[in-house]
Amino acid sequence: MRHLISPLDFSVEETEKLLLLAEDIANDPSKYSKVCDGKKLATLFYEPSTRTRLSFEAAMLNLGGSVLGFSSADSSSAAKGESVADTIRVISGYADIAAMRHPKEGAPYVASLHSTIPVINAGDGGHQHPTQTLTDLLTIHSLKGRLDHLTIGLCGDLKFGRTVHSLINALVRYPNISFVMISPEELRIPTYIRKEVLDDKNVPYKEVEVLEDVMPELDILYMTRVQKERFFNEEDYIRLKDRYILDASKMQYAKEDMLVLHPLPRVNEISVEVDKDPRAAYFKQAQFGVYARMALIMILLEVGLC
Ligand code: NCD
Repeated sequence: MRHLISPLDFSVEETEKLLLLAEDIANDPSKYSKVCDGKKLATLFYEPSTRTRLSFEAAMLNLGGSVLGFSSADSSSAAKGESVADTIRVISGYADIAAMRHPKEGAPYVASLHSTIPVINAGDGGHQHPTQTLTDLLTIHSLKGRLDHLTIGLCGDLKFGRTVHSLINALVRYPNISFVMISPEELRIPTYIRKEVLDDKNVPYKEVEVLEDVMPELDILYMTRVQKERFFNEEDYIRLKDRYILDASKMQYAKEDMLVLHPLPRVNEISVEVDKDPRAAYFKQAQFGVYARMALIMILLEVGLC
């Protein structure tokens, strides 16, 4: 039995297979509409979510399965003090696969140790978000045709943004990837990623504070929200929240085929006027999330695979 806790749980070859399956699903979802007949997905969400939870649920329903779960810690027995270990032991008897989001780093990993069904990390605190990464890779692969030879700008809250941490981990495995990290000093990527992921693998990167200066170099611009819920004090959040706002005037500096990605939700960091720019790919990205999760569920449940 397999879990997905970190984006590195799947090798490059396995990730490639998943992306090809997801692309096949995107081309003709009806082919897969019965492969999870009789299977149940439990969504165990201890933190707010719109896209991740609902795209997981849509994915399972599209595969002919059914879903059960909770969408906040308050509405589950966590509010009574139950541990994730006990919860997952019980849920293992109610469902065939579980997706868990939790504010504590490592909680889905702990759950996987006590589970008899596959556990998927749907975001753990400021740590990792591997299914967003599969979504991001699928978006880049489908729209750019490759995952190598890319200069990727990561902009905003690189300290607490788990989507960025997982994406860096996944992308350093492809040839000729370089990163441009655009953030205020206080929100730079954590040292463990700089040292253990980038420096150790000799991946080229630079850290800058001004977005406009680096726009012309980028093949992908990955915008992120400043993560209010992970700040210790409100003043810092208010000071930093609107530091980067991507608007039409800044888009003028970008390559004609640059893609703008964002895991969403956006707050102010992308002006709505950018939505009509053909390079804005974040709503397509949210749709790709359903296909990536359909492929993932099929692979972890070992159903419908040739
Ligand atoms: C992200 C998350 O939850 O980490 N959202 C998502 O899953 N699409 C990013 C965010 O909340 O800013």
